[in-house]
Amino acid sequence: MSDQLDDFLKELQGQIYEETLRDYGQKAFDRWIDPPCMHTMENPDAHGRITGSCGDTMDIFLKFKEGTVSEASFITDGCGPSMICGSLAAELAIGKDPEELKKITAETILEVIGGLPEEDQHCASLAANTLQMALFRYLDQEASGR
Ligand code: FES
Repeated sequence: MSDQLDDFLKELQGQIYEETLRDYGQKAFDRWIDPPCMHTMENPDAHGRITGSCGDTMDIFLKFKEGTVSEASFITDGCGPSMICGSLAAELAIGKDPEELKKITAETILEVIGGLPEEDQHCASLAANTLQMALFRYLDQEASGR
């Protein structure tokens, strides 16, 4: 790659980073750059998958130990905000029992992240709904003794 092109791309990346940090804030920016919980999980105790009305799909995986979430992760083929919200949903799930998990909503995610632009708020709903689906499946399995 020529030095000129390299410099151009570095400058462009710097601008994108600056704008993202300004528009989304530090917590969201950090998760957009390197979402801590973005990976699949071998043998989860629960798995939720939802495709939102935008067409993006999210998966959330949970492992429980002694009644609380010991591990949580997510993957998505969606937008940057879906990565931010999916990561936060998984992060928030860790250490929670089912009753506490039920309280994690899109509003919770938005509050923790410090808000998102209005056009991205549905991404928090996708993350929260996917988490709730994983929880529903877990509770269903527990109830049926599977
Ligand atoms: Fe689909 Fe963000 S636009 S989850």
